[in-house]
This record gives sequence, C-alpha cells and structure tokens, in this order.
Amino acid sequence: MGLAAPTYSDAWISAVPKVELHVHHIGATSADTLADLAARHPDAGVPTDPQALQAFYEFTDFDHFLRVYAAISRLLSTPEDVLHLTIGNLAESAAQNVRYVEVTVTPNPILTAGVTRDGLVEALNAAREHAAREWAMTVNWILDIPGFTGETAEVVLDLCERRPPDGLVALGLGGPETPRPPFAPYFARARTLGLGSVPHAGEAAGPESVRAAVELLRADRIGHGIRAVEDPELLAGLAEAGIHLEVSLTSNLRTRVVASLEKHPLPALMTAGVPVSINSDDPPMFGTTLTRELQIAAGLVGSRQIPALLRNAIKASFAGEDLKASYLADLAAAEAHR
Ligand code: ADE
Ligand code: ZN
Repeated sequence: MGLAAPTYSDAWISAVPKVELHVHHIGATSADTLADLAARHPDAGVPTDPQALQAFYEFTDFDHFLRVYAAISRLLSTPEDVLHLTIGNLAESAAQNVRYVEVTVTPNPILTAGVTRDGLVEALNAAREHAAREWAMTVNWILDIPGFTGETAEVVLDLCERRPPDGLVALGLGGPETPRPPFAPYFARARTLGLGSVPHAGEAAGPESVRAAVELLRADRIGHGIRAVEDPELLAGLAEAGIHLEVSLTSNLRTRVVASLEKHPLPALMTAGVPVSINSDDPPMFGTTLTRELQIAAGLVGSRQIPALLRNAIKASFAGEDLKASYLADLAAAEAHR
C-alpha cells in the first residue's frame, strides 16, 4: 500500500467517537418518541401509526418540510414532553458514540405550545445532566431564531440574555431562508453575551445568503452554506477565513435543494479548502443517522477523508480547549486501530 492513506470501513465509521455540530432538537425525534407524543396530543395532526408517519415524512419541497416540522413542534406542550423528546434524541446520539453534540433548539414553537420558559430551560438542563451522567456525553445548546425578526427573534434573544440553559454556546438562525441582513442586530446582541454565530445560509437561498451571514452576522460557522459553491470568490473567502460549513448530505436531497448525491457540492467545497463537517440535521425525518451520513460521505469523497472531516467538526465546535484536545487524541487512537 506504500504511502497511500488508509481506508476506513463502515464498521470503523460506526464505532469511531464522534462530534456533531448540526442537529435540530425537534427534527431529531425518533418515530417511536414521535408516536408517544402524538398519542399524548391527538389534536396536533401528527399520525401515530408507523406507516402513516412514513408518508408524513415525505416532503414535496422545502416549504412542505417546514410545515411538517411545525406540526411536530405542536406536540411539545409540557416540560415532560420536552424532557422525553430530548433524552430520547440524546440516547440515539450516545448509541452512535457521539461524545459531544451541539443541539439546535428552536424555543418559539415549544413556548407557543404552552411550555413556560422555566419549564423549557429546566427540561434542557435535566437532559444535559442525564447525558453527562449516563453516557459521559457533553451536550451544548444553540438557540435558534426560526426565520423571522420582530417578536419571533426577541423571544429567542430574551432567553439568551435572561434565562439561558446550561451549556448555551451560540445563536442560530433556521426556518425559512429569509434575507439575512435584518438579523444582524440579534447576532450583535448574542456576541456581547459571548455567544457564537451559526446561522443557516446557502441552503434554500443562493450564495448572497452565505455572504450576508459572513459579513453581517459574522458567522463562525454556517449551517449548510453549500450554495457558496456557485460563487468562486466567496468560496475562496470562506477557505481563507476558515469559516466552517456544516454539511448534511441526505437533508439536502430530501428537502430537494440538491438534485442527486452525485451533484452534491461536498467534493468541490473540500477541493476549495473550505473546512467542512458531516452532520445529520433532522435524522429520523430524513431517514438517516450521523453514522449513515459519514458512510455516505465516505462513498462520495473517499473514506480516507473521514478522519479529516471528524477532526474539522472537533476543531469548529464550541467545546473548551481541553475537551477538544481529548477528542482529537481519542480520534487519533481510533485511526491507529483500524
Ligand atoms: N429547521 C430544521 N431543519 C432545518 C433546515 N434544514 N433548514 C432550516 N431550518 C431547519
Ligand atoms: Zn439545520
């Protein structure tokens, strides 16, 4: 084999310790947890039967995906619902040897469904403690604004400023990909709190969205960002500044922002030198897992690239330096034991 880099099997990918940067709290709900919650709240319009649930998860386009998402959000109307969902999600991560995860939580629909701010934050704190105790997994949170300014954004900033959950590390921006410039004041406020900036951009909208995220929201990382590939100058700027893109392959296919895996820009992003990681986004909704996404990435760019993609995730996380060093050491040990 000479000096050629080694290859990594699907079994190795399955077992390797992982870091995940981009997974949505509600979107990570397993079918079993969803069926429990739907049975508790029959008026929310979410099917309880597994087959009907599968049909419910077939999206015609990005807007349809967001409407389905809103229906699921309505199932979280008590702190117990939130705790049940969150612990269920973290158990799925633990089973894939995820050691560290930054979970994106959208508070608005949960508060609208009737959970108080204290109820939400206490449920998140309890789930975080559970993950540390049961699985030695570190969970940090990103609170995200679901696509609109005004009261929608204020609710999120108010939580960040006055009642943050333990382990809050960044402000996010998801939902419909509305123009990014009006969100600059919220990200400036988050920055004064010491929070990172991780907006979605360049998913449904084009490279101008990524450019605004970088220039006006001062993004540390970008959720998706894949459409930056359409603007070579922007791509070079991301590589130069080391702005990380959180890539989710199956998500992009299922929401139909990319037509086929062969057309996915991941290889071009990597060739351009942009730091990227592999993430699951809304795994059960898209019929995937983080492990599966890494295996799909191995098929697309070669399994030799997988350790580098895992390292990129560790480096771009908001974990402390000691934790990062220990994750990097564990990854190096796993590479040595292929
Ligand atoms: N919320 C959950 N998943 C999302 C996605 N892929 N894009 C924007 N908002 C989201
Ligand atoms: Zn996302």
